[in-house]
Amino acid sequence: MCGIVGYIGRRNATEVLVDGLRRLEYRGYDSAGVAVMSDGELIIKRSVGKLENLEKLLNGDMPVGHIGIGHTRWATHGRPSEANAHPHRAGDIVVVHNGIIENHAELRKALIKKGHEFSSETDTEIVAHLIHQFTEQGHSTKDAIVRSLAKIRGSYSLVIMNVKDPDTLYLAKLGSPLVVGLGNKENFVASDIPALLPYTRKMVFMEDGEIAKMTADGLVVRDKDLHLVKKEVKTITWDPLTAEKGGFKHFMLKEIFEQPKILEDTYGGRVAPGTGKVILKELDPLFKDGKFIYDHIYIVACGTSWHAACVGKYWLERICRIPVSVDLASEFRYRDPIINKNTLFIPISQSGETADTLAALKMAKEQGAKTLAICNVIESSIARLSDIVVYTHAGPEIGVASTKAFTAQLTVLLLIALAFGRKLKKIDASDVEKRVAELLELPGQMKKMLDNAGVIKAIAEKYADSREVLYIARGVHFPVALEGALKLKEISYVYSEGFAAGELKHGPIALIDNGTPVIALTPNGYTYDKIMNNVEEVSARGADLILLTDEGNKSDSVKAAATIYIPKTSWYTSPILYALPLQLFAYYVADHKGTDVDQPRNLAKSVTVE
Ligand code: G6P
Repeated sequence: MCGIVGYIGRRNATEVLVDGLRRLEYRGYDSAGVAVMSDGELIIKRSVGKLENLEKLLNGDMPVGHIGIGHTRWATHGRPSEANAHPHRAGDIVVVHNGIIENHAELRKALIKKGHEFSSETDTEIVAHLIHQFTEQGHSTKDAIVRSLAKIRGSYSLVIMNVKDPDTLYLAKLGSPLVVGLGNKENFVASDIPALLPYTRKMVFMEDGEIAKMTADGLVVRDKDLHLVKKEVKTITWDPLTAEKGGFKHFMLKEIFEQPKILEDTYGGRVAPGTGKVILKELDPLFKDGKFIYDHIYIVACGTSWHAACVGKYWLERICRIPVSVDLASEFRYRDPIINKNTLFIPISQSGETADTLAALKMAKEQGAKTLAICNVIESSIARLSDIVVYTHAGPEIGVASTKAFTAQLTVLLLIALAFGRKLKKIDASDVEKRVAELLELPGQMKKMLDNAGVIKAIAEKYADSREVLYIARGVHFPVALEGALKLKEISYVYSEGFAAGELKHGPIALIDNGTPVIALTPNGYTYDKIMNNVEEVSARGADLILLTDEGNKSDSVKAAATIYIPKTSWYTSPILYALPLQLFAYYVADHKGTDVDQPRNLAKSVTVE
């Protein structure tokens, strides 16, 4: 939520900031703004709505300067308006912020009493006033920031500029992400890696509690006790082109089409065909003398990652015979879950920054659980806080609706289940071998489905004006149905819901009327007959059926309005394939309706506030 960016160096800061904001816009797009020092004068430009509005404002009137900060907002405190857009200024202090200042009301009251005048409803403006108050009292900018942070409760990543100190940016992080990009006589800072990729691959990741002073030539980082910290410089291998649209109309479509390659990247080096082995060395510390010491696995996540977690439960329990609980992070953290040193806690997060998942992870750690993260973004907070990380190699995901990260998470979960199963001797090497062979076939099968995307486009366009769409499935495909429904509602705003088909008679079937579109996932396997019974039941009540079924199946008895055939694979790998047409269906419905596919209303990609 909210993207922040800062630059100092030889280029025109405004251009770098706007370019960075474009790459961060998926974090929020209610309003945007920049503050740039130009000829000794601070110029702030802000505008409501998408970044393009700010770009229009800057067109022909672009401040030229070598230091500046920028922000793209997802409103928390105060509606989207120009006054509430960042940067916020108090005296000589200008601030951009990602996070929430929880004690903003009391701080604001105290500052107003002292004569401070506020021009916005935001919590962020308080930070600018606090720092200004201390610099006015004669403190250096750094000391003023330290004193101000001591008064703040909440989460933040902050980039701060003092007009009187125009060669320095000050940074602070607690709870929200902040990455510094190191250049040659120029330095960059942003909420996320993609904003920096066109400029540098050398990055420094700020830790919670750290503050930093960034000039064009250097970066000085201090910990919460103000001791100097020697930061490791990491070289990021992500290709900057993967954060570009590459000729596709939307990032989401490009990311859907990238999946065959992403799958190869994710299992690559982790499977050894012909050996019956999955190579995940990261998991070794979970075994003592060959024994797994954890008697319960908790998988916790939000949104799409939670759907991946739900599929993971089916795989882990069936393959490894270990009890697995899956929870939404926002629920888990406010329950009183039973966690101890025998619990293996698995947070799943594409961004690695989701506030609820991060808080759940901290809670599990405090209660003694061993933690194993599945993350996409390298060096993200969840990745760094976990004992072990297994990365998905999906590359930067820009479309707000997650697609390639989901199938990469599924791939990693299946690999983990196979690795555990083998170590625990619950599965034979020959079975692992079969699963690996199926995994290796998936990219080719996906390519085949993508080549026929036109079929799904035609079906989607037929249903684009539907008021609602229902999804039904059973077993390991049930979470895939939930994910299909989530995709559709988030980008097309069509009401959609996924149901466990066995539950239909307990309520949902009452929704079925003549012509109600129902998408049914009917793969072969031990639930095939059961789901086909449910399909008949909804069909008998007038549902307009879109059937997803394995190639070669004949479902003559059911009158489906459309049938989408999925290449044959096994129960293990099938959820990965079934996810693909549902992503395409949602995409084509949304595109036909003309919604903003990559930046749907009210949503943001990285939910860094609860
Ligand atoms: C937001 C995104 C979703 C994502 C969810 C969890 O809601 O729009 O696409 O699934 O956050 O994000 P995470 O980064 O933790 O996977």
